[in-house]
Order: sequence, then C-alpha cells, then structure tokens
Amino acid sequence: MMKEGVPSRPIWFDPASGKVRVIDQRQLPHQLVVMDLTSVAAVIEAIVEMAVRGAPLIGVTAAYGVYVACQTAGDIDDVRLGAECARIRAARPTAVNLAWAVDRALETLLGTPPAGRQAAALALADKIAAEEADNCRRIGRHGFPLIETIAAKKSGPVNVLTHCNAGWLACVEYGTATAPIYAAFEAGIDIHVWVDETRPLNQGARLTAWELAQRGVPHTVITDNAGGHLMQHGMVDLVIVGTDRTTATGDVANKIGTYLKALAARDNGVPFYVALPSSTFDWSLSDGIAQIPIEARDPEEVRYVQGWADGRIVRVLVPPARSPAGNYAFDVTPARLVTGFITERGICGASAGEIRKLFPDMSGRGG
Ligand code: MRU
Repeated sequence: MMKEGVPSRPIWFDPASGKVRVIDQRQLPHQLVVMDLTSVAAVIEAIVEMAVRGAPLIGVTAAYGVYVACQTAGDIDDVRLGAECARIRAARPTAVNLAWAVDRALETLLGTPPAGRQAAALALADKIAAEEADNCRRIGRHGFPLIETIAAKKSGPVNVLTHCNAGWLACVEYGTATAPIYAAFEAGIDIHVWVDETRPLNQGARLTAWELAQRGVPHTVITDNAGGHLMQHGMVDLVIVGTDRTTATGDVANKIGTYLKALAARDNGVPFYVALPSSTFDWSLSDGIAQIPIEARDPEEVRYVQGWADGRIVRVLVPPARSPAGNYAFDVTPARLVTGFITERGICGASAGEIRKLFPDMSGRGG
C-alpha cells in the first residue's frame, strides 16, 4: 500500500501486478527496499530471515502466504493445501500469530471448493490485515490515557521506554507498543521515547528509531543495558512493550531482554505494560516459562553486527573469530511483573481472571 510513493504498510497486495509485496526490514533504516513474495518458499524465507517480523505481521504474512500457495498451485486440493500450510506454520516457533493465522486460513479454505480457494484466501488475508490494523488503532486509543495521566502530573516530557520494535513495521499500522505513543504525540503531549537498541538484530535502533524519526517523535537510542540505570534516576515514567505470545494466565514472551526490563521496572516502581491484540494470546497455555517455545537463532547474528559504511550495508565480526555465541531470541516475563495489558478491548490486569473478564468469548478456547 503506497502513499506518495512510500509504503504505508509493511505488507500489501498489489492488484496491478497480482503480487504480495513487503518491505524488506533487514535493510532498514539504510535502504527502503520492497520485495515480492511470489512462492511459498519466498514467504517462508521472508519470515525465517526476518525480512518480515513482529508477531502480528508474521501472522498477516502467513495468511498472504496461504494465498500465494493457492495462487501458485491453481485449484489447490486438500492434501497440497494442508502440506503448504504446515510448511508456513513451522517457519518460526515463538509468535503464536503465525499458527493462529494459518489455522484460520486452513479452516476457511477447507470449507471452500478448490476453484474458489485463491479468491477466498486473498479475501481472508486482506481481512486479517484490516483487523490487525484496527486492533492496533484501538490499542492506541485505550493506552493513550496512561500517558495522558502521567503528563498531567509532571512537567517536562513523559518518558516511555520500549524494547525491540512493536511499531507499525511489526504489525500493519500504528503498532502495538507504539500506538499509545503515536496517539499521545498526535494529541500534542510532550513525549520522549527511550529506544532499547535490542541486540543482536537491533530492531530498536534500526526499526523503532526509524519509525519514530519518520513521524518526528522525540526519541533516544540506548544500549540494552541502560534501562535499569535510567529507571533508578527517575528518567522512565512508563515501559510499554509488545509480545509474541502471552499465556491465558498473563506470562509474556517477547524479545530477549524484556524480562530484565520488567525486573528493573518492578524494582523501581515503574509501570510495565504489554500491548497486544487478542491474536497474540495463546489460550491453550498456562505456564509461559515451561510451555512457550523459545526460538534459538543462528549464533552468527550475535557474532556479527550489521551497519552502514561506504554507501552499503556491511557486517563486522565482534568477538574473537573462534568464540562461539548463543542466540536466544525471546524470554518470558512472568505475569507477576506485568502491570497490565493494553488490548483492543481495553486494559486489564495480568491474571487469568482479569484476562478472562475482557475476553470471555476467547479464553475458553484453550486446549
Ligand atoms: O524477532 P522479532 O523481531 O520478530 O521479534 C519481535 C518482537 O519481539 C516484538 O516485540 C513482538 O513481536 C511484538 S510486535 C507488535
């Protein structure tokens, strides 16, 4: 979806070419490159290699991926449809939106005759994208009063700390953690964002900073280890992060390092909110630490840092050439450290009972 030649969403269907297009987020903020996803293999590679990333966007990409499977197979039969869905579903393990979107697509298409599957898959992917955009808009509306209340009580900017990128690049529009920030900024509230750089892939320094800079939102990129120090000195009013999977009991899986921010926030009395659409709840789980699969990625992502030099993207080695590295991509913040959830239906506390009250129609779905 282009506005004045610049994509306004990280994924869209281009009716003129009949292709699914995405922003290649690996190249931001230095290059804005758009790529076409023309095969199921390309869709899976885009998810695995994180050209597209962020829980809601992974789900939306998977839904368009099922469309691509139908598009490339002609009148796709049940067996091939099932196999393609299984391949897409396995691309990354932690964000539950991936399985959620694939399962939803499969259920719809199995109830549709093969000749109608391509059109039905595209309609569903467009619908999921529209729903997620609307969810994020509502998250912004519900989260806004948290920032407004702090602004009313202090002079100077409201300082919000966020981790990784839970912005529109990770969703479809607005973002989850960033939606209340954008809403406050647009309402004229004096706001400033501490952006954790988020090693190893620097989604904060590369993507959140890019988004905020594009909109003119004041922000400062900090090292992943700076947050505790800032909180001790009263320089953080509020933490808002996203999540890849949240249990029915309120345990939160998010980008590695989130747990440490939650611990520091608790120690310093700083509110720690998690913003998420209902598609990121895993209603079947009750113990995040024991049950949420944590992705282990290529150690080379830790050993090498990517940046911009001499007009091109370069990667440089940091540790001694033979030192091994570990790359745990997510961690789990227990519900007891979470002040509340900002959802499309409003804010609730981080307990099974509070979540159930807000989502009585969904919370019974668990396995
Ligand atoms: O590995 P990534 O970049 O896909 O991880 C993304 C995150 O951890 C986000 O915080 C999360 O998906 C929420 S996005 C609204």
